[in-house]
Amino acid sequence: MSGFEALAEYRIVPVVVIEDADAASGLAEALVGGGLPVAEVTFRTKAAPAAIAQMASRGDLLVGAGTVLTPAQVDQAADAGASFVVSPGLSQAVVERARERGLQVLPGVATATEIMAALELGLDVLKFFPASNVGGPPAIKALAGPFGGLKFIPTGGVSLGNLSEYLSVPAVLAVGGSWMVPAKALANRDFGAIKDLVAAAAAAARVI
Ligand code: 3PG
Repeated sequence: MSGFEALAEYRIVPVVVIEDADAASGLAEALVGGGLPVAEVTFRTKAAPAAIAQMASRGDLLVGAGTVLTPAQVDQAADAGASFVVSPGLSQAVVERARERGLQVLPGVATATEIMAALELGLDVLKFFPASNVGGPPAIKALAGPFGGLKFIPTGGVSLGNLSEYLSVPAVLAVGGSWMVPAKALANRDFGAIKDLVAAAAAAARVI
């Protein structure tokens, strides 16, 4: 499966901020065990490339790199075995490098003007960020009017509590969020708690 087909199937992308790559294998086990074998590992920490490499090498987990801001980070993500890259905003240089490296790319947009710039680059699936701050589900519905062919992956402020509001919007392919992988649980190696949060999210997505 390509990145976006898989994301459309799982409908939820756990966003990971990992401080210590030693936690990657327990985290991967929790994601797979909880029923969401997908992760966006953000380049906000130095551990990200090593964590991506460990998680991707399992072969049963779709691993992307998040918070990718530069072409050099695209290279790091590709070298680590990531399948897709996510950016908070739209950078033509990042999009082009991702394509050169054979990675799916998911740039962030928040306005109609940014969406038009993304369309000019031939993109048709976009991150909507920071979703809850820029209008949430009603904003996505409004943007889906003029941009009918586009799909969005809203991220930023999505939680178990508002998941159904997002996933019931037809233009929403999937959502992203960090609520399933709390920093404290990861630091404490509480993989059981993470697995439970992932399973609850997966179950909620199934009934929408
Ligand atoms: C992201 O990295 O895309 C967001 O910061 C995640 O947002 P959240 O922490 O509100 O889920």
